[in-house]
Amino acid sequence: MQKHTSRTSRIRLAELVAALSIATDLAMGQPMEYVLGSCVLSVRLGETLGLSVNELREVYYLALLRYLGCNAGTHEQAALVGDELAMRTATVPVYGGEPSQFMDAMVSHLRMLHMDLASPDVDRVIAQVLLTLQNVMQELAAGHCEVGQRLASRFGFGESLQQALGQAYERWDGQGVPGGMKGEAIAASARIVSLAHDAVLFHRMGGVEMAVAVVKERAGTAHEPRIVERFCQAAPHLLAGLEAGSSWEAVLSLEPGEQTILSEEQFDNACRAIADFTDLKSPYLLGHSSGVAELAAEAARRCGLPEDDIVAVWRAGMLHDVGRTGVSSGIWGKPGPLSDSEWERVRLHSYYSERVLTRSSALAQLGALAASHHERLDGSGYHRGASASPLTPAARILAAADAYHAMTEPRPHRPALAPEAAAEALRSEVRAGRLDGEAANAVLAAAGHRIRTTRRALVAGLSEREVEVLRLLARGHSKKDIAGLLFISEKTVSHHTQHIYSKIGVSTRAGATLFALQHDLLSAMG
Ligand SMILES: [Fe+2]
Repeated sequence: MQKHTSRTSRIRLAELVAALSIATDLAMGQPMEYVLGSCVLSVRLGETLGLSVNELREVYYLALLRYLGCNAGTHEQAALVGDELAMRTATVPVYGGEPSQFMDAMVSHLRMLHMDLASPDVDRVIAQVLLTLQNVMQELAAGHCEVGQRLASRFGFGESLQQALGQAYERWDGQGVPGGMKGEAIAASARIVSLAHDAVLFHRMGGVEMAVAVVKERAGTAHEPRIVERFCQAAPHLLAGLEAGSSWEAVLSLEPGEQTILSEEQFDNACRAIADFTDLKSPYLLGHSSGVAELAAEAARRCGLPEDDIVAVWRAGMLHDVGRTGVSSGIWGKPGPLSDSEWERVRLHSYYSERVLTRSSALAQLGALAASHHERLDGSGYHRGASASPLTPAARILAAADAYHAMTEPRPHRPALAPEAAAEALRSEVRAGRLDGEAANAVLAAAGHRIRTTRRALVAGLSEREVEVLRLLARGHSKKDIAGLLFISEKTVSHHTQHIYSKIGVSTRAGATLFALQHDLLSAMG
C-alpha cells in the first residue's frame, strides 16, 4: 500500500483506542463500554491519589488497553472450556477474589458445558480440564500480556505503558499472573486500573454499596490497601454518572495531557495492528484482514476509484472483521457444520464491527463501509440484508475481496480452495446476482487471474457504475441528485463523469446523452 500524504483523517489516538476497547469488552464477555467506565474511574482515582499528568496519562491508556491481548490463545482456551466468552463472563468478576471463588465459577461453567454427560463422566472431564488449565494458565496469561504489549508498541505507546500492560493481571499479594509480582513492584498504574476494573464491574451489579464491599474484601489480596481506602472514602463521588449509561464522551474529554492526533501513516499502522489483533482470534484467520485490505485496494485502483476511496477500502479491509472478537473462537474453529444458533452468532460479527467502529464519529464512515462486507446485491447478505442500491463501488469491491480471499484460506470444515476454483466460485456468485461483476473482475485481476471481457465492458470500456452515472447524466440529473440516488459523494460523481467523458470521447452533457441514446443505455433507469 502506498504511503498517504494528503489525507486528512484527524483521528485522535484516544478515540481509536476507546473504540478498540469496545471490541475487548466483547472478547472478555463483558457488557459494552465496561472498559470505558473503568477508564473514567481509573483517572478519577488517580487524581485523588495526586498523580501527575504523565502518570494519569499512563493510567488512562492502561485502563483502555488492559485487554488488548484478549484474542491471544482463545482458540486453545475454547478447545478446553467451550465458549471462552461465557467462561470469561463467569470468571472475570472472581479473578480478584479467593482462589476457591475462581475455581467454583470455572466448575459451574464446565458443568453447564458438559450437562449432557452422566455424573461420573462429567466429574472426570472437569477434573481433567482443571488440571490442564492449571498447567497452561500461566502461559495463557503471559501470551495475553505479551501480545498486548507488542500491539501497544505498534500504536506508538512507550516502554512504561508496555511494562504496566505486562502486569495487568498481577495481584498485590503476589498470587497474580504471569509473573507473580507483589506489592509496589507492580506499576502504580496497574494497581489503580486493576481496582477500577473490579469496582466498575460490581458497581454495575449492585451499585456503590456492592462495589465498596467487594473492593474492601479484596484489600491486601488483589488490591493495594492504600488505594482501596482512598476509593472507599470517596466511592459515591468517584462512581458518579457511571451507572447512567455511555461513558464515551466522558472518556474522550478526560484524556490527561495533550491530545494525540494520528498522522496518516500512524493511522495506517494502527489499522494494521487492529487487523492483527482481529486475526489472532483463530489460526484459520491469520493474515485474512491484511490480505483482504491489499486485495481490495488493488481492485479499487483497477476500477479507477478516486485515491481517497482506495485508501478507505484499504483501511476498511484492515478493520472489517474486528467484530469477530465478539464471537467465540470455538465457533470460528468448529470443524463441523454450524448450528442455527451458532450461525446467528457468526452473522453478528459484522454488526459488532459496526458498533465498535461507528462509536467514534471520526471512524463512522469507515466503520459503515467495513461492516458492509457480508452484504450482497440481492439482499441475501448480512447483517443489514441491504440490497444493491446502498452498496457503493467500494463496498462491492470489499465484499468481493473478502469472499475471494476467504475461499483461498483454509477453514476448519474445508481446505483452502486453489486460486482457479476460488475464482470460479466468485464468478458463480456474480452469476447468481449476489456480487458485483465489475468488482469481482477487478478482485480477480488484482489476484493475478486473467479476466474475460464482459458484454457490459464492451460499451466503450465503461464500467457498470459508469453506465449508471451516464444514464442519470443523460436524463438531466444534477451531480448532487446523482450522488443522492447512487449513495456516493459528489466528488465521486465528478470523478466518474470525467472518466466517462474521456472514455466515450465527448466534452459535454449533450454529447454524453447522444452517446447513451446511440448505445441504448437509457432503458433500465429513470
Ligand atoms: Fe467477516
